[in-house]
Amino acid sequence: MKADVVLGLQWGDEGKGKIVDFLTPDYYMVARFQGGPNAGHSLEFNDKKIVLHSVPSGIFRDNTLNLIGNGVVIDPVILLDEIDAIEAMGIDIKSQLLISKRAHLILPAHKIIDAASEASKGKTKIGSTLKGIGPTYMDKTGRNGLRVGDLLSDKFNERYEALKKKHINILKQFDFEYKIDESEWMQAIERLKTLKLVDSEYEVNNMLNSYKRILCEGAQGSLLDIDFGTYPYVTSSSTVCAGACIGLGIAPSRIGEVFGIFKAYCTRVGSGAFPTELNDETGVKLQQKGREFGATTGRPRRTGWLDLPALKYSIMINGVTQLIMMKADVLDDFDKIRIAVAYKINGNIYKTIPYDMNHTDIEVIYKDFEGWKTKTSNCKSYKKLPQAFKNYVDFIEHETGLSLKVISVGPNRDETIIR
Ligand code: GDP
Ligand code: IMO
Ligand code: MG
Repeated sequence: MKADVVLGLQWGDEGKGKIVDFLTPDYYMVARFQGGPNAGHSLEFNDKKIVLHSVPSGIFRDNTLNLIGNGVVIDPVILLDEIDAIEAMGIDIKSQLLISKRAHLILPAHKIIDAASEASKGKTKIGSTLKGIGPTYMDKTGRNGLRVGDLLSDKFNERYEALKKKHINILKQFDFEYKIDESEWMQAIERLKTLKLVDSEYEVNNMLNSYKRILCEGAQGSLLDIDFGTYPYVTSSSTVCAGACIGLGIAPSRIGEVFGIFKAYCTRVGSGAFPTELNDETGVKLQQKGREFGATTGRPRRTGWLDLPALKYSIMINGVTQLIMMKADVLDDFDKIRIAVAYKINGNIYKTIPYDMNHTDIEVIYKDFEGWKTKTSNCKSYKKLPQAFKNYVDFIEHETGLSLKVISVGPNRDETIIR
């Protein structure tokens, strides 16, 4: 059995949470493979809206296991708060949730280093979510990190203190006032120890060997990937499909369907390149109609038209097999809708993206589409959608060479069209 992957093809917030929740009934387990509480995945059903940061988005479906994989970084305080909130909804989360012993821990000082680093950058700041993601992955690759499995060692306190000392030394480089508040964190790790801490690479491979289906849930988006994103304005993990192999211990030959999720337009939170960004009233309209405010930080999201050179790049890097278009309903009310089809750089036309998108002067070439001016959120079948909508879809399918299997026309589970 192969594992399927859901991942974002843009700058995050494509609607991964909604689609994972939607697809979960077909799977035995949902597994997060990278990122941490920088993610905010929203789910809507039965008049409830829930935002998940660390817990996989399969948690609200009965009889589904959920795994926080080795590639994820965990803030015990945020995770335990999330678990409490889910438990209060009557879900027996403790029996449904597995946590990899190899997942790294976000320490209180990681968040302080994140904030100090951002403050020191001034105008060139990344726009980090300040959850300590970058510093934790730095300690992971620097081979200093503490992992969930270390909580079970009698040397844990010693190792924690040694790492804290390193962090205090790092903080000396910054002109940054701070206080390390550890009490909540210490309480949370005691509770974390009582959860199901597993050798997840064995769990995952044993399940696949017994023909149990696994859905891997990506966080962030491909254009925020540490290698292929708009570096340095990226996150610190591999958000692309290969990240599912590394972040769960799944061999590349065992990856099955790759569901690439994109919004019918584009958004970005934080700094960095955004060629199709709209700094005008159309951009504000997209932000308002799409309720584009960060699920983790509440920050307003930057908005712009769909960008095909960037989308095709993400499709290539991820080996996407099925496309899923989200938030199409947000475009219901526009007279004219645009898609970026190429970039003009120094007088030359490109359908690829440049090496340093952040510092390249890009003139975007658009194709214009007539708006459909029809409410789509109550449409239950593709047939019922207006022709102008279908023209938009046909063009994307033609350009990408992939078919759009699922189209989302609202935040609710039910507002989803399968073709
Ligand atoms: P994720 O990080 O990829 O899971 O996405 P977020 O949850 O951060 O942001 C997506 C937002 O759009 C959430 O508020 C969702 O409830 C909402 N959403 C998801 N799909 C749709 C859709 O098809 N239409 C509309 N209008 N909203 C949607
Ligand atoms: P989901 O999973 C959108 C952005 C931040 C910042 C950059 C680095 O909900 O799609 P970090 O805290 O990771 O060091 O921030 O990445 N970012 C996201 N943007 N959605 C996310 O997650 C994001 N996670 C991080 O805004 O620009
Ligand atoms: Mg999000």
